[in-house]
Parts: sequence; C-alpha cells; structure tokens
Amino acid sequence: MSKLKIAIQKSGRLNEDSMKILKDVGISIDNGKDQLKASAKNFPLEVFYLRNGDIPQYLKDGVVDVAIIGENVLVEKGQDITIAEKLGFSSCKVSVAIPKGKSYNSIKDLDGKRIATSYPNTVNQFLKDNNVNANLHIINGSVEIAPNIGLADAIVDIVSSGSTLFKNNLKEVEVILKSEAILAVSPQISSENQAILNKLQFRLQSVLKARN
Ligand code: PRP
Ligand code: MG
Repeated sequence: MSKLKIAIQKSGRLNEDSMKILKDVGISIDNGKDQLKASAKNFPLEVFYLRNGDIPQYLKDGVVDVAIIGENVLVEKGQDITIAEKLGFSSCKVSVAIPKGKSYNSIKDLDGKRIATSYPNTVNQFLKDNNVNANLHIINGSVEIAPNIGLADAIVDIVSSGSTLFKNNLKEVEVILKSEAILAVSPQISSENQAILNKLQFRLQSVLKARN
C-alpha cells in the first residue's frame, strides 16, 4: 500500500505546531525524537524531518509529496509548488529593519545600502519592484547581528514577536510579506498519493474550522 510522504521541519518554531496539527487530525506518529523518518500508526503517512530551506527542493524532486512549511520559504524558493491549505499557525512577517537611531523616510533610503539576509530572492524581487539598488550579504542565521558588527546597513529577516529586533536595537521599516504555515504539494505527486492527500485535507479542514 502506498504512503503519503510528508516533510516537517526538523527543529525550530514550526516543528511543534506541525506535530500538534497532525495529532489533532487523529494521526499518531511513532516518534523516536532523533529519527529523521517516522511512520503513522493509523494513517498511510510517512513523516520526514528536514531542514526548512531544503524542503522546497525535495518537493520539486518529488522526494516528498507534501510539506508543512512557512509560506515565506515557498516565496523564496518554491516556484511551481502549490499551496493546498493555509494552516493558520506560525504567523510571521518578512521585514526590512534598520538600526533604531537611523532615520528612514521611504524605500528609496535603501538605495546603495548593504542589506544582510537569508532570503536573497525575496529581497531582490522587492528591490526590483521598488526600483532600488542595494548590495546583498547572504548569511544563514543570526542576521540581526549584521548592522551591529558593521556588516550591513539594514537587514531583511523574519519578524514574529519582534523580540530579536528589539534586543539588537533594530526597528522594522518595511513589511515585505506576511506569512503563515501552509501545506505545500509536490508537482510530482502520484494519483494514488493524491487520494491520500485528499483524505488528509478533509480532516485538516474540519480541525481548522473548529479552531476558528
Ligand atoms: C528567527 C528569525 C528571526 C527571529 C524572529 O530566528 O530569523 O531572527 O526568529 O522571531 P522574533 O521576532 O519572535 O524574535 P531563529 O531564532 O530561528 O534563529 P536563526 O536566525 O539563527 O536561524
Ligand atoms: Mg534569526
């Protein structure tokens, strides 16, 4: 019997809520916490615990059929991946921030500036849409430190509670996009697994309705 392969964030903010929603739809997963792969006991589902940024490629290649990821990750590298369901948790923004003491009037102020980010495609699109030229510094984490160590004039990163910006003496000046957790689908899903996905989505929809 075929099983639907789902990717879940291995660790980090989405992991816990993703596991919770699977539990709420009545799927119980054998969870050796260190396992990178687990099976559901009562639903034809296999769970793969992966790094966020790797998930879009796995979807494109059809290595997994579906994934719970942040919409922002799809915007960054998920062309031709469809969104089956918005899941209503893990809301965040992708925003531009600058040091608190600096003045800011408009997007044009970013012209010629150095921007540190982990989301180069998203930032480049934003700059292009606004006719602004800036230099990107791509870093993979702790982006908010960049202005304080003189590496950048501004950053673009995820803002959730705002606490990381606050602690690093930064202020949000532009919101590029708003994001939440979504169920994303591989363009390569088989019809057999699509049928399993339909059942999963049906359950998800009732849980989401009840949560509202
Ligand atoms: C994420 C993100 C922001 C922060 C936003 O970083 O990159 O820095 O959370 O959340 P907040 O607004 O609630 O503070 P994370 O802690 O996951 O670490 P990383 O950037 O080093 O991966
Ligand atoms: Mg961070």
